[in-house]
Amino acid sequence: MSSAVSKRLAGKTVVITGASSGIGRATAFEFARTAPQNLKLVLTARRIDTLKEVAADIAKEVGDGVRVHPVQLDVSKPEQVRGFVGGLPEEFRDVDVLVNNAGLVKGVAKAPEIAEEDLNVMFATNVTGLINMTQAIMPIYLKRPNGGSGDIINIGSIAGREPYVGGSIYCATKAAVRSFTDSLRKELIASRIRVMEIDPGQVETEFSVVRFYGDKSKADAVYAGCDPLTPDDIAEVVVFVAGRKENIVVADTLVYPSHQGGAGALHRKS
Ligand SMILES: NC(=O)c1ccc[n+]([C@@H]2O[C@H](COP(=O)([O-])OP(=O)(O)OC[C@H]3O[C@@H](n4cnc5c(N)ncnc54)[C@H](OP(=O)(O)O)[C@@H]3O)[C@@H](O)[C@H]2O)c1
Repeated sequence: MSSAVSKRLAGKTVVITGASSGIGRATAFEFARTAPQNLKLVLTARRIDTLKEVAADIAKEVGDGVRVHPVQLDVSKPEQVRGFVGGLPEEFRDVDVLVNNAGLVKGVAKAPEIAEEDLNVMFATNVTGLINMTQAIMPIYLKRPNGGSGDIINIGSIAGREPYVGGSIYCATKAAVRSFTDSLRKELIASRIRVMEIDPGQVETEFSVVRFYGDKSKADAVYAGCDPLTPDDIAEVVVFVAGRKENIVVADTLVYPSHQGGAGALHRKS
């Protein structure tokens, strides 16, 4: 017997950005495990070989009820995003759920020492990339009855709510995601398009390794004495919001591990 959520998700096409690692990868697995009989997943990221491994691992775990289509896509490149929908095979084009998850932080520099390249890549990926992906998918949603339908699930961050020292650019990008998300939800109230944001607190992924330019020991120090969330913890929330009844919009969700109470408010076991 399948659950109400797996029935609601059955037959849907889900696009996930940043599905090669961390939260995005876990979200792909969680959707596949929840609707294993009938689901289409479009997994995107820059590392296509990793995406192909994810696709093969999903097939191994849940079988061929879930069809997975990996696509190499750099969301920070507008021309790649522009060609994305047109480049999908016909059977993957009727998208129902977009998970805008691709994102990154670079460095902990403070102004005026912030590298221009880091500033540009964070905005181009976290903000412009997310907005361009949304605009690429929305025409598909808007063609449906009742003013349109479909889900847009944006992965924000506690950083978008509470700016912190050494994170000014990343925090600004996530605050921009929040503003865009809230505006879009209001713009679409006459439709059945659901615009939702999930803001994780501390999650252990490759995120900190990327922040410290590949220095694993610095990344490990971020989580020292903590019991961070896992990517699966956030993936479960993504699938939960996508699996609600059509008339329910879980608009805004903040998720912490139990030792966290704010961006810098972390209890560390000594
Ligand atoms: N970890 C945390 O503590 C935390 C907390 C709050 C919010 N978040 C947010 O959660 C999201 C996922 O991060 P994560 O923690 O899972 O980190 P992660 O393990 O580093 O995963 C990031 C994903 O984004 C992809 N990505 C990066 N730049 C991209 C680009 N230009 N085009 C397409 N894909 C790109 C990466 O794939 P490729 O390298 O293959 O392109 C990777 O799959 C991000 O938006 C992040 O800001 C994370």
